[in-house]
Amino acid sequence: MKGKFITFEGPEGAGKTTVLEHLMRDKEMLNMAPMFTREPGGIIISEKIRSVILDKEHTEMDSRTEALLYAAARRQHLVEKVMPSIREGKHVFCDRFIDSSLAYQGYARGLGIDEVLSINQFAIDEMMPDLTIYFEIDPEIGLKRIAASDEREKNRLDLEDLTFHKRVQEGYEIVLQRFSNRIAVVQADRAIDEVVNDVKGILKKYLSN
Ligand code: TMP
Repeated sequence: MKGKFITFEGPEGAGKTTVLEHLMRDKEMLNMAPMFTREPGGIIISEKIRSVILDKEHTEMDSRTEALLYAAARRQHLVEKVMPSIREGKHVFCDRFIDSSLAYQGYARGLGIDEVLSINQFAIDEMMPDLTIYFEIDPEIGLKRIAASDEREKNRLDLEDLTFHKRVQEGYEIVLQRFSNRIAVVQADRAIDEVVNDVKGILKKYLSN
């Protein structure tokens, strides 16, 4: 039996990485034997591409270059890690995937959601997520959370201003409408335990069906 491909999306500071860290330690979740991974990254080549994309020194990076690098990292990660795990019957829990590119590069950078979808279709070859959990948060609250956290690395995209992050959120809203059949929304501006519980509830219901 094939595993499911489940992605976690949201603007900066929405807390999805923290929630995933909770799920990694959760017995009920571990019984489902999921494979946790992230984008851009998850394997050596894609982690290297990640450091090129997110390097704060690379202020000259062109938006199309950025979109292509995300798609390249995505392709390699899919082929090397995600697809083999799914074939082995594991459920893959991936921190960010194509919807990030649609919201950030397609909408916030202004490249066009359809244009970015099209270069990604080449990269993913119809391997869309089975389920996406979207962490909804006001970008102002998200950015404040990041500013207050010493642990989190500050990357090139974190340096963008609030206007950019508001556009990311608008981009996600379009993506939510377009792919409403596979996206579940959780309210992320609450205590972490409440958010973890909601996410667990969604996953348990989905994976037990
Ligand atoms: P992270 O902070 O969730 O690890 O993600 C790294 C940054 O990359 C974050 O600012 C979102 C951004 N990103 C894109 O702009 N497009 C993409 O396709 C992906 C996967 C991430």
